[in-house]
Amino acid sequence: MYLKMKEGNAELLAPAAKTVSSRMEVFYNPVMKLNRDLSVALLKAVGKKRMRIADPLAGTGIRGIRFIRELPKSQIEYVLINDKNPKAYSLINRNLRLNKVKPGKAVVTRKDASMSLLEHGPFDYIDIDPFGFPGPFIDAAVKALARNGILAVTATDTAALCGTYPKVCRRNYWAEPMHGPMMYETGLRILIRRVQLGAAGYEKALIPLFSYSRDHYMRVFLRCESGAKKADDVVSMQLHACIP
Ligand SMILES: C[S@@+](CC[C@H](N)C(=O)[O-])C[C@H]1O[C@@H](n2cnc3c(N)ncnc32)[C@H](O)[C@@H]1O
Repeated sequence: MYLKMKEGNAELLAPAAKTVSSRMEVFYNPVMKLNRDLSVALLKAVGKKRMRIADPLAGTGIRGIRFIRELPKSQIEYVLINDKNPKAYSLINRNLRLNKVKPGKAVVTRKDASMSLLEHGPFDYIDIDPFGFPGPFIDAAVKALARNGILAVTATDTAALCGTYPKVCRRNYWAEPMHGPMMYETGLRILIRRVQLGAAGYEKALIPLFSYSRDHYMRVFLRCESGAKKADDVVSMQLHACIP
């Protein structure tokens, strides 16, 4: 059963679940409204025109629909809204109709997220918002990111990033976490580094724009500059940060 609700300027049908979990029929977490508010605010502040936007792990589609409803029309060429869950796919289409989104402003697909990015890219803005560790989607996101494009990444595996599970952090992020008063700061830096190292091999330098830690997640926004020299500079900064 779906409930009708409102978030930002968008109306939304979402599951009437008592508890939020990845086992929901279609995932929607009202606590992440701030996460979505800040994505809208950042894109408004950047003010870029005719953006090709990708929301490849979309759940109900709320994020992409909010971009369409809340950003000036001139800012959006189109939004790719993708989720591999068939129930999410049909709910995204219902939510687009509910919000009277014009055909052409949104393209809805039901693919693996990486495949959707590689088939439809390049994009000026990509929002990676997975369950847990974002690593499996970084490679395709970086490949599909246009020059000067922005990559937003959410990580909810904070126990790894903050050092509760150091082995998981080493395995997934190739970094040593710190458990203590600095753990959120170091966790964000580990996440940024992981995304930057994933991009360097494609001669892309990802420059952090804005990052924060809140509730159960960490979030980073990075702008893509192209060129081997710029990518080398990022790698060199990371190496110097590691070698005393
Ligand atoms: C955390 S939820 C996304 C929430 C959504 N971005 C929002 O703001 O409400 C993650 C979503 O990714 C989808 N998903 C998980 N793995 C996927 C994959 N490999 N390809 C495409 N979708 C995937 C799940 O079905 C789920 O809807």
